[in-house]
Amino acid sequence: MALIRFGISLDESLLRQFDALIERKGYTNRSEAIRDLIRDALVEDELSAGAEAIGVITIVYSHETRELADTLNDLQHEYHKEIISALHVHLSAHKCLEVILVKGKSNDIKTIFDRLRGLRGVVHGDLSMTTTGEALQ
Ligand code: NI
Repeated sequence: MALIRFGISLDESLLRQFDALIERKGYTNRSEAIRDLIRDALVEDELSAGAEAIGVITIVYSHETRELADTLNDLQHEYHKEIISALHVHLSAHKCLEVILVKGKSNDIKTIFDRLRGLRGVVHGDLSMTTTGEALQ
C-alpha cells in the first residue's frame, strides 16, 4: 500500500501540547501517533454504526448479594452465542471480579453490558470495545 505524505497546519501551542502528550505516551514520532488517532476515530465510527465488535466487560460485585451469582450465570447462558469467555476472580472475602469477553454487534454488546451492570449488587462495571480490525490498516 502506498505511503502518502501530507502537511498539517496547526497552532504552535497546540503542536507543543501534542508533542508533550505523545512523548509521555512513548511515541517516537508524530506520524505513528496521528495514525493511531485516525484508527481510534475509525473504530469509534464503526462501533457507533453497529459494527461487528469485541467487548471486554468488567464487573465488580458483592459476593454476599443473594441470587446475584445465579442471575449472572443465567444471563451468561442467555447470551451464550455472544459470550466467548469469562474469568472469575475472588477479589476479597466480600467482592468478586468477573471479566467477560463478548463478540457480536456493538449494540448487542452494549445491551449485554447494561443488563449486567444494572443487576443489584454490582458495584462497578466497565465496557471496553474494539472492532475485529478487519477494515483497519
Ligand atoms: Ni468470587
